[in-house]
Amino acid sequence: MSAPTLEIRNLTKTFPIRTAFGGKAGAVTAVDDVSLRVAAGAVYGLAGESGSGKSTIARMVMGLTRPDSGDILIDGQSIIGVKSHAHRGRVQMVFQNPGASLNPRRTVGQSIRVALDAHGKPAARVGDLLDMVQLPRHFADRYPHELSGGQKQRVAIARALAVEPRLLVLDEPTSALDVSVQAKVIELLEDLGRDLGLTYLFISHDLSLMRNFTAEVGVLYRGRIVETGPTARVFADPQHDYTRLLLASVPVISDEEAALRPDIPLINGELPTAEELLALRQAERKSE
Ligand SMILES: Nc1ncnc2c1ncn2[C@@H]1O[C@H](COP(=O)(O)OP(=O)(O)O)[C@@H](O)[C@H]1O
Ligand SMILES: [Mg+2]
Repeated sequence: MSAPTLEIRNLTKTFPIRTAFGGKAGAVTAVDDVSLRVAAGAVYGLAGESGSGKSTIARMVMGLTRPDSGDILIDGQSIIGVKSHAHRGRVQMVFQNPGASLNPRRTVGQSIRVALDAHGKPAARVGDLLDMVQLPRHFADRYPHELSGGQKQRVAIARALAVEPRLLVLDEPTSALDVSVQAKVIELLEDLGRDLGLTYLFISHDLSLMRNFTAEVGVLYRGRIVETGPTARVFADPQHDYTRLLLASVPVISDEEAALRPDIPLINGELPTAEELLALRQAERKSE
C-alpha cells in the first residue's frame, strides 16, 4: 500500500502567553498530540469551534509554523525542517477570507501569474485556471473589489491550483460566504478533487458542511482530537459529548436523523458552550 498523502503524528504546539508588559505568563497548548492520516485523493474534515487549534494545524502542514514535537509527512516524507518553499509545490492553502488573501492592487490575471511564475509554469495557463474554477476568462482583467465573495474564493482556488499541488489545505474556505454560495464552492471543490485527483484537508467549525463532502472527520476540542472516524458513522453515532454538541447545531435532513438527535440540555433556551456542556456532564456523573 502506498503512503498516505498526508500523515500527522503526535503533533504538539504551544504558544507563550505574554503579559501586557511582554513578560511570560505561561503557555497555551494550541495543538495537543494530534495524529491523522489522509489517503491519496481522500477528503478529511477537521471540525472544531473557534480557538480549537484548526488554523495552527493548517499552518504547520504548510510549513509556516514549526511544531514543538511530532511529525508531518507528505507522500511519506517528513517536511519538518525542510524549507517551507521547498514543499509549497505539493501543498497549497485556501484561506477563510478571500478578500484579504488577494492583493487589491493586482488584477486576477496578475495574481494567478505571480503564482505561476514562482513555480516556473507558463503564464498562458491563466485562462485554463479560470476555466477550471468556472469563471469567465475575461475576469483576468478584473480587480478583487469588482468580484463577489464567491468569485474571489474561486480566484484564490485557481491561484492555489496554479502550482499543481497534490494536497490542498482548506481553512474555513466558505465561512465568509452566504449559505447558497457556500454550497456552490463546495461543489466546485468536489469536482476539482475528483478531476485532478486532489487530496483535501478541509477545516471548518461547521460540521454540516462535512456531511457529504468528507469521507472521514476528526473533531478537535482544545487542541485534541476527541473523536474521529468515517463521517457517516460520526453523524449517526457520535461517541463524544462535544461531537454531539457540534451535531446539535446541524440541520436534520430526515426523521431517522431527528430520532438520533442527541439530547442536549438548553441553558436559558440556548445551546450550551462546549465548556458548559462538559461541566454539566461532569456534575451529572458525580451525582450518579
Ligand atoms: N501566533 C500565536 N500566538 C499565540 N497564541 C496563538 C497563536 N496562534 C494561535 N494561538 C492560540 O492557539 C489556540 C488555537 O488557535 P487557532 O489554531 O487559530 O484555532 P482555530 O483556527 O480553531 O480558531 C488559540 O487559543 C489561539 O489563541
Ligand atoms: Mg482558524
